[in-house]
Amino acid sequence: MSDLMQRGAAPIGVFDSGLGGLSVVRAIRQRLPAEPLIYIADSRYAPYGEKSDAFIRARSEALSRGLIERGAKMLVVACNTATTHAIAHLREQLDLPIIGVEPGIKPAALGSRSNVVGVLATAATLRSDKLQGLLAAHAGTCRFVCQAGHGLVERIEQGEAEGEAVDALLAQYLQPMLDAGADSLVLGSTHYAWLIPAIRRRFGDRFTLVETATAIAQRVAQQLDQHGLSAPSDAAAAPAAMTLCTTAPGESQRLPLLRLAQGEDFAGAQVRAIDVEPV
Ligand code: DGL
Repeated sequence: MSDLMQRGAAPIGVFDSGLGGLSVVRAIRQRLPAEPLIYIADSRYAPYGEKSDAFIRARSEALSRGLIERGAKMLVVACNTATTHAIAHLREQLDLPIIGVEPGIKPAALGSRSNVVGVLATAATLRSDKLQGLLAAHAGTCRFVCQAGHGLVERIEQGEAEGEAVDALLAQYLQPMLDAGADSLVLGSTHYAWLIPAIRRRFGDRFTLVETATAIAQRVAQQLDQHGLSAPSDAAAAPAAMTLCTTAPGESQRLPLLRLAQGEDFAGAQVRAIDVEPV
């Protein structure tokens, strides 16, 4: 096998503060079923959204190095919070293609008919220059109602993407957006993709929901192609290997991941508990 083919057979490395980035893994899997994947959920340290910029950067670098040690040929930072605070640093430090995610402010602003858009993101994402810049770029034509999703990531990490507590938080955070005239909602954390059924149940289709997992999968496909890193075309019939790692310290904290991994979106995935200490 040539070097390039060997490189192509290596996995795409993906990480997030926890279970959110699995919504991106799901989209990559659907788009590129022959690509091996390795994922790290940093559930031990979630939520990132309430942490300092320096902490988010240090964890992002440690996880990226952990994925590279495990053979990753490309990195996907499947976390809006880590992308806003760490991607420039990662690109400076590491020599491989790195793809990030960012809240879909532009598509939401362009698609909104009322020109009022709700933005639900973590506190750390909302305070970032990157997000503030995106909002400013569209402020002439669109009004944004921004809300930090305090408490939502914690629920999702406990495997609770619906139920009374989640409903109460969604009502508290999203109703004021509707009252302000919003017709679109940017899901500005990859975790929030898991809330779509709960949002739909409570608010029907009063919001157009904007998330970017499919666009990221498309970008991954383009970048693999551009760097000559696609899995060899003679790769075994899909699906390729998928390993889901978690830094969650205890068995009970690993249960939500184990449950998700049993769903058909992650069929055949192997789940591993790992330690990734900060560098
Ligand atoms: N899933 C992450 C994001 O996209 C972070 C959530 C968190 O850990 O606070 O922003």
